[in-house]
Amino acid sequence: MTELAGKPFLYVVVCAAGVASGVGTLIAEAQERGWEVGVIATPAAMNGYFDAPGTESRTGRPVRSAWRSPADPRPFPPPDAVVVAPATFNTVNKWAAGIADTLAVGTLCEALGLGVPIAVLPSVGEALAAHPAYQESLTRLRGLGVRFGEGRVPEGFAWTRALELLDRP
Ligand SMILES: Cc1cc2nc3c(=O)[nH]c(=O)nc-3n(C[C@H](O)[C@H](O)[C@H](O)COP(=O)(O)O)c2cc1C
Repeated sequence: MTELAGKPFLYVVVCAAGVASGVGTLIAEAQERGWEVGVIATPAAMNGYFDAPGTESRTGRPVRSAWRSPADPRPFPPPDAVVVAPATFNTVNKWAAGIADTLAVGTLCEALGLGVPIAVLPSVGEALAAHPAYQESLTRLRGLGVRFGEGRVPEGFAWTRALELLDRP
């Protein structure tokens, strides 16, 4: 744990998928389970996909989507774990390829290199999931220890599945 006297810190990475509007469920459940949460959204996700002001109130921290200026302090402590939910086709492929053109993907690339536990719930439809690049990205990231779960379920989106994936050793 990075915060010796405090709670473990969870980064929640939010991508621009329609289901992102429900990410408050994940944040509330993570807090319930003892995590302190900081949200990093892709720039596209900031375009109305989820309630950013409500998320800031809920987490007590700014939602990050751009890199800080060199002189600014780090807004979040280092992560004890990372959840990517919902994860888009675009972000998964860029992450696997190491194209760190957003703070979200840069953070994911770094977390991978640091060996931080990462759980991912993709929101990717069948047509995009059939693309060979996506299948290769999943194989590559799974091979590096990234934990993938099924986000899309008949009842909606299985947000808490991400936290269960982190519980596993
Ligand atoms: C209403 C709406 C819903 C979308 N839902 C998804 C989705 O579930 N999964 C996905 O991969 N892309 C989805 N997209 C497309 C992404 O927003 C688009 O690929 C975007 O570039 C992803 O950026 P990001 O990966 O940086 O968040 C959706 C687009 C719109 C307009």
